[in-house]
Amino acid sequence: MGEGVLKTATAPRALGFAGSSAGLSCESVPLSVIAADAGTPVYVYSAAVIREQYSRLDRAFARVPHRLHYSVKANGNLALLRLLRTLGAGVDIVSAGELHRALLAGFSGPDIVFSGVGKTEAELVAAVDARVRLINVESLGELHLLDEVARRLGRRADIALRVNPEVTVSTPHAYIRTGGRGDKFGVPWDDALDVARVALRLPGVRLVGLDVHIGSMVARVEPYRDAVRRLLGLASDLRKHGASDLAVLDLGGGFAVSYGSDEVEVDPDALAQAVEEELADSGFALVLEPGRFLVGNAGVLLTRVLYRKRSGDKEYVITDAGMTDLLRPSHYDAFHAIDAVVPSGARIRADVVGPVCESGDFLARDRDLDDAAPGDLLIVRSAGAYGYAMASHYNARPKPAEVLVDGDSFAIATRRETVADLVRQEAHELDWRRV
Ligand code: LLP
Repeated sequence: MGEGVLKTATAPRALGFAGSSAGLSCESVPLSVIAADAGTPVYVYSAAVIREQYSRLDRAFARVPHRLHYSVKANGNLALLRLLRTLGAGVDIVSAGELHRALLAGFSGPDIVFSGVGKTEAELVAAVDARVRLINVESLGELHLLDEVARRLGRRADIALRVNPEVTVSTPHAYIRTGGRGDKFGVPWDDALDVARVALRLPGVRLVGLDVHIGSMVARVEPYRDAVRRLLGLASDLRKHGASDLAVLDLGGGFAVSYGSDEVEVDPDALAQAVEEELADSGFALVLEPGRFLVGNAGVLLTRVLYRKRSGDKEYVITDAGMTDLLRPSHYDAFHAIDAVVPSGARIRADVVGPVCESGDFLARDRDLDDAAPGDLLIVRSAGAYGYAMASHYNARPKPAEVLVDGDSFAIATRRETVADLVRQEAHELDWRRV
């Protein structure tokens, strides 16, 4: 973690976020110590939880040749990327920005798969240049552009065709379903064979794999089993058409975690077993793209209560974190458990809301929670995935800090933005061009 590592008095080690009489800690670091040092709001991540989640999934798939390519979009923090790299992960990226992050964190081409429905020419150039392991092609147009780009660079790019397997999944919100008929992602199932056959003819690409991503927060194993079946069927058709380099099946990510409400966590062993049964002795190597499963429950958003207010029949807890810091409650109506760092012992029913000028700015609605007074610290749990990554500057709010905890140590992984950061890219004097 380098400079900035602070030591605290040693307390018993705990996995993740747990309480003692002094209040909640992350591993052995009291959250109050982090709030005092880094300020609030601040994201706090537990290295131990990430290690544990990585090894649970990795162990489950031990009997199949596989690699976990962490989905950077869930949380692209460089410290987390470096940690995952040391565990053996590769990455799944969706933009030149994520490529930049991955390379900075020490990943190299063979560690990287590049997905995304709208890759620009410049992004394809960067990916070919970096010699990424797979470019997951999602349309005929992209296939032709990539072929042209690769030939221009004197290269042959390894690709997987991302197909839409048209399997039905149940997810908590329609926005995180991606593999149903008519969705924008992947090549439509009915066109997959034709597009793949085009790929086989193009000199700038080598078709080495097939890819799906069926959605996010998928708890059941059946949709994955169905997807593997479909991909194997397609692979066998393609082999009849001369596809001799097919060696990889990329099953995407989407493995559900529990947010402490009624969600069910995916069972990695059951998932692996189902996938293995389908793969049998097909010889394919697996790529998996877990995001949330690795980091979701490894992070909390630590926030301070600013005010209490009663309006009509409603009780409000107003915090210094809002939808700009954690968008999921307002965007997906997502549940995140909220606990006081030092519980008062009394309970209230309240909305927990942020300072943003939107009625949709809430972290929880009509929630039974600890009776927290101004100045008290709260944690919003399970905020490690799609938390900081989806933060915005709306209302000119600087993004929060991020802290990584490992055992009895913590480090600032991302400094809190300042108001100066907010205007850094803006021209102070306009340089008019006359046309
Ligand atoms: N691979 C691809 C191609 C993806 O599009 C995604 C997520 C993943 C892997 C990783 O999915 P995960 O394992 O994290 O479920 N912002 C939403 C989630 C959007 C997921 C988008 N794609 C949320 O906060 O719930």
